[in-house]
Amino acid sequence: MVAAARRALNEFPVFTPLTDAIGCRVEGVDIGAPMTDAVFASLRRALAEHTVLVLPGQDFTPEQHIAFSRRFGPLEDHVLSDFCLPGHPEIFVVSNIIENGRHIGAYGGSKRYHSDLSYLDEPSMGSLFYCVECPQGSGETAFASMAAAFEALPADMQARLLTLNGVHDYVWNYARAHKTRPPLTEAQKAKTPPVVHPAVVTHPETGRKSLFLSEVFTRTFEGEDEGESQALIAELMAFAEEPRFVYVHAWTPGDLVIWDNRSSVHKAMPFDEANARRRMHRTTVRGARPFR
Ligand SMILES: [Fe+2]
Repeated sequence: MVAAARRALNEFPVFTPLTDAIGCRVEGVDIGAPMTDAVFASLRRALAEHTVLVLPGQDFTPEQHIAFSRRFGPLEDHVLSDFCLPGHPEIFVVSNIIENGRHIGAYGGSKRYHSDLSYLDEPSMGSLFYCVECPQGSGETAFASMAAAFEALPADMQARLLTLNGVHDYVWNYARAHKTRPPLTEAQKAKTPPVVHPAVVTHPETGRKSLFLSEVFTRTFEGEDEGESQALIAELMAFAEEPRFVYVHAWTPGDLVIWDNRSSVHKAMPFDEANARRRMHRTTVRGARPFR
């Protein structure tokens, strides 16, 4: 595509909500081409409002992926540096593909709802996930609005949750969830001690409150019994997973999906990992310490 035609794409983005609770399709944008601050601001506002943006038909280089992602804020380098794109520590590869006897990306994980990097002191603000290669009819990503779920809870449960903090523990989850991956090194463990976040957080751009917990990373409520905490987390997540709060994205190569980790959780749906090929590139935007 010639430069002028690509640039014209970024003048009038068209936003189409995908469900009542979460998700918005954005057409008329090309993130590999120049984009004014005003158009970028409209994308950022739409992300805060709809939590998940779907931008189909994108074609960009890793450098363009990184440059566009940086407009949202500084990027994370993932703790699992073995799964980053060679030469690009900002791009985390999620894939089942094996090349030259080694996995090119993170595999066999994320089948349960979570918010990326919730186990950091300053969890991720958002992620930009680009589909390079995928099977059709499987391997979707499901997103649940933790804002819509919180708002639909009974008032007494909302009040109780507003008094609780969750303990997010990456090392605890890794040991039980990733039995086929090599164990974490002591250095990796030292980088990810348990952290405490409010169980309900306020979105810094919209002021909306969201549940901020998951069965993947939230081990207990601070000061509470682990078994009782796990039971309540399971109950809340079962509620948040109801279809009325969920958008399931079926991938086509060239899709870029941007999600807000502060107000949603997501999970990968299964696919034939032994035979099908799936390759996704993720950048992860650094966030701030969550507040109630
Ligand atoms: Fe994730």
